[in-house]
Amino acid sequence: MTVTVPHNGSSLRPGPRPRTPTPPTGPVGMAVIGAGYWGPNIVRNALASPATDLKWVCDREVGRARHVVGEQSAIRVTTDIDDVLADESVEAVAIATPPATHAELALRCIEAGRHLLVEKPLADSLDAGLRMVRAAEEHGVVLHCDHTFCYTPAVQKIRDLVAAGDLGTPLYYDSVRVNLGLVQEEVDVFWDLAPHDISIVDFILGSGRDLLTVAAEGADPLGLGHACVGYLTMRYSDGLLAHCHLNWLSPTKIRTTIVGGSERMVVWNDLLPAQRVSVFESGVDLGESDLSLGERRRRKVSYRIGSMVAPPLREREALLGVLEDWTGAIRSGGAPMTDGHAGLRVLRVLEAAEASLRDGFAPVPLASVGAVA
Ligand SMILES: NC(=O)c1ccc[n+]([C@@H]2O[C@H](COP(=O)([O-])OP(=O)(O)OC[C@H]3O[C@@H](n4cnc5c(N)ncnc54)[C@H](O)[C@@H]3O)[C@@H](O)[C@H]2O)c1
Repeated sequence: MTVTVPHNGSSLRPGPRPRTPTPPTGPVGMAVIGAGYWGPNIVRNALASPATDLKWVCDREVGRARHVVGEQSAIRVTTDIDDVLADESVEAVAIATPPATHAELALRCIEAGRHLLVEKPLADSLDAGLRMVRAAEEHGVVLHCDHTFCYTPAVQKIRDLVAAGDLGTPLYYDSVRVNLGLVQEEVDVFWDLAPHDISIVDFILGSGRDLLTVAAEGADPLGLGHACVGYLTMRYSDGLLAHCHLNWLSPTKIRTTIVGGSERMVVWNDLLPAQRVSVFESGVDLGESDLSLGERRRRKVSYRIGSMVAPPLREREALLGVLEDWTGAIRSGGAPMTDGHAGLRVLRVLEAAEASLRDGFAPVPLASVGAVA
């Protein structure tokens, strides 16, 4: 047997292996920044999840942070993110502050080597989002964008039905997301509500087709300087059309989405806990598919009115799934389901919608808005 001797004369007998840091195990030590409307939901789920160990809540208004954790809690509160980042037991930070603050806070956490969960929308511009994603990749930290609805049993069921081909060819996505909502000062109704639908469409219908154009029409009846009522349309390469109606000024709350397919159609009513998802064996048939357009127009259509099935869904708070996916990715070194890139895809549509609003509601080719990997 030949033994090669290195030029320094030492034999090749394995010496002591270099020490690699043992990856942390157990619950992820975390902090929440932002204790306004949404942050407390993250706090509540972080306290309920065995996967997280909540150490800090940070808010510019310390009273809010204190209120969320309770007067006698051992969880520490602060107004200063430096306190959070100085604590070595904090491995990860959830950011639930207004979108305009996401990039600055996120970049500080990333540079301090902390994993991140950032609320939707990932940032207030595609450019800011890109900086966050690039920095997270450079520093090897997990960046999760909280597209909460993708973690609901209803949306996961619809995604499974589409992926299994149970709806046939997907034809359209049509949603109504309206209520007497909190009229926001800093963002319009598109940046506030549309991330939900854009992320859902991306999640259930995004693969296998390209998004070609985005058109947005908005109204500002209150004179706020931005839209409170909006209609967003996304057109895909295979003809699929997604339309979202967004409105802060509706007297009633409606959260209903229809996903139409050539074989079946799904109605998702998120305000009906006993029957959120209904799958209809209904559709319109034209008989032979190889007819010419003229023949198809002359042909009488036949309506298929079949049975309706309401699949059982487990009741589970989506944010718990978000935290599990995020912490799972942190521990495994993998990517979460709705990662920074999913956040960028949403930002790209929002920027295209803004361009369409500026351009008299004209459809804007997605290709004209900064490329996203
Ligand atoms: N995933 C969802 O379903 C969902 C629902 C609602 C809101 N959101 C998102 O959550 C985020 C927060 O929305 P919100 O409605 O809770 O806003 P909010 O205004 O009610 O609360 C934001 C909080 O952040 C604090 N804050 C602002 N800047 C800060 C800073 N630099 N450091 C520390 N604290 C700071 C404010 O004092 C405030 O308490 C937004 O991105 C929003 O889009 C997500």
